[in-house]
Amino acid sequence: MKKKVIILNDQPSLVKQGLTLVLEKIEQAIQQRGKCTLVLSGGSTPKPLYEALAQQSLPWEKIYIFWGDERYVSSDHPDSNQHMTRQALLDRIEIPSTNIYAMPTGSHDPALDAQKYETMLQEFFKINPGDFPAFDIILLGMGDDGHTASLFPHTEALHVSNHLITVGQKDGQPRLTFTAPLINQARCVIFLVAGSNKQVALAEVFASEGDAMTYPSRLIQPQEELWWLLDQAAGQNLSLV
Ligand code: 6PG
Repeated sequence: MKKKVIILNDQPSLVKQGLTLVLEKIEQAIQQRGKCTLVLSGGSTPKPLYEALAQQSLPWEKIYIFWGDERYVSSDHPDSNQHMTRQALLDRIEIPSTNIYAMPTGSHDPALDAQKYETMLQEFFKINPGDFPAFDIILLGMGDDGHTASLFPHTEALHVSNHLITVGQKDGQPRLTFTAPLINQARCVIFLVAGSNKQVALAEVFASEGDAMTYPSRLIQPQEELWWLLDQAAGQNLSLV
């Protein structure tokens, strides 16, 4: 695994670096495979990156959009990651609706919807149950508790290794999430982390020894590329040995 850590002066610089990296990886994927599979993260940090992406002239017909996790709410709910990314990006670009693979949250049964999304991915990648596809780019954030996607500390979701999608839990609220093994199959995983409130969790995630059940971002060890884009506020005390 190639792990790169870049500490940027501030959040606008982090977004700019993130945009440069994402554009490079999109171009690479399309050149090599004729399309790009891009997994979006929720949260507030990536939103300006999505807004910047919307300003780019890209072959959106060759770019396929997925989500790494979703709150278990309707797609027009203010907490919905889909809602946020449609406002910031998808409603601002010419992308075929058939290129957008939103996580379903309408069955009133999170486990059923998780299975539905897993089946959607198996059909998209033309793989059998048990196989794990390699997405080109997976964007992730990290909470101040060290969670990523909806892989929260000391939850069942952290132990799921035989599925692509599972049900995460945050304060008793269900969420759909990529599993760690699925994230780790990606060709390129990019964390976008900003804010001094992330310092402690970052130190624990980067420590040579630590407990991934308490700091689930430690589980993210993709075989290929792992990028951590941090702003100074988050990364200033990180010892990068
Ligand atoms: C979500 C995200 C979640 C987020 C982190 C960081 O659904 O909220 O997937 O994992 O990335 O909580 O959020 P911020 O970027 O807002 O700090």
